[in-house]
Amino acid sequence: MKINENHLNLKESYLFPLVASKVAAYQERHPGEKIIKLSIGDVTLPLAPVIIEAMHRAVDDMSKGASFKGYGPDATRYGYPNLIDSVAAAYARKGVSLGREEIFISDGAKCDLGNILDIFSEDNVVLIPDPVYPAYVDANIMAGRKILFSCATEENGFLPMPNDEIKADIIYICSPNNPTGAVYTKEQLRAWVAYARSNDAVILFDAAYEHFVSDPALPRSIFEVEGAKECAIEISSYSKTAGFTGVRCGYTVVPKELERGGVSLNRLWARRQTTKFNGVSYITQMGAAAVFTEEGERQIAANIAYYRENAKMIAGCLDALGIWYTGGKNSPYLWMKCPEGMTSWQFFDYLLENAKVVGTPGSGFGRSGEGFFRLTAFGTHENTAEACRRITELLGNAKS
Ligand code: MLT
Repeated sequence: MKINENHLNLKESYLFPLVASKVAAYQERHPGEKIIKLSIGDVTLPLAPVIIEAMHRAVDDMSKGASFKGYGPDATRYGYPNLIDSVAAAYARKGVSLGREEIFISDGAKCDLGNILDIFSEDNVVLIPDPVYPAYVDANIMAGRKILFSCATEENGFLPMPNDEIKADIIYICSPNNPTGAVYTKEQLRAWVAYARSNDAVILFDAAYEHFVSDPALPRSIFEVEGAKECAIEISSYSKTAGFTGVRCGYTVVPKELERGGVSLNRLWARRQTTKFNGVSYITQMGAAAVFTEEGERQIAANIAYYRENAKMIAGCLDALGIWYTGGKNSPYLWMKCPEGMTSWQFFDYLLENAKVVGTPGSGFGRSGEGFFRLTAFGTHENTAEACRRITELLGNAKS
């Protein structure tokens, strides 16, 4: 027996458990201290009432023989038709027309961003932005795939563009970006689509944060770009949109037009899913189906507005301190430069020890993230205001 030795090439720990273990160790040494966590992008508001009501109704369905549900409906890729139709309707509002067969209900974006690799050869070269959500890199290391990085820097506004000299087969794009909060314009996405088409590559577009885009001129789906259906797969989630980080539900769109070597990727993914995935629970799917109803949209917009207020608070604090940052406008993340030339982990320790505030070190998202630090707007108003007060006191005093 041989293990998959590619796993030995991973870092000892995934980023977020590493941050959590450092915080837990600190808390153990300082048991009475109130630590405020603005690190992992986990939501704090409860599920919207419209979702809870739909889930209650679904629980009642499960209690009666006539409406009880077992395995999900095979013909619709384990997605219930009302949920699939609500996803399709949400895309139609963005001007994107999708057939039912193109939408696959998942248990969240993270799983599919890794699982989708099953349908691609391990010989493919993958291009990943740096810094970015670390799950992309780790999933490809596990598969032993060759990884190239496109560097996101202050100079390119943290939005790397295609380079014709680089040949990649699989391209990850995350917009609005985690961790930097930068968002590609339609024009910029057009360039990526053109690159993918001329290189026979496939784009894996992570749209988990699309609901945070407030500028109507910015695209929220890669499929808003003409020609993208022939070269892209879009992966999204209800986690950040509707507070499903613990409930787990998302969707992956594999267009019928997407073929490579004469083979439909939609067919490969459907075959993969019917073998390795048994679907998302009925109760969860009925909750998710309530998200894109008229009332659902209104209620989740209120929750997103709440997090936007937090982002504004953090931005105001950084502005007052004269600290450079991006994000926070069309994204729940603020990406700040570490003060006094500190490295990302030095600033992590400094902030934890002196302000009892936790963020995520930029270098954890990739080499180009060194010297930067991510704060999330997903906390409560009270904790965000208190964190801003502590950061202002600490960094303001350090300046004066
Ligand atoms: C993050 O903090 O980057 C995300 O919440 C992690 C995730 O979505 O898995």
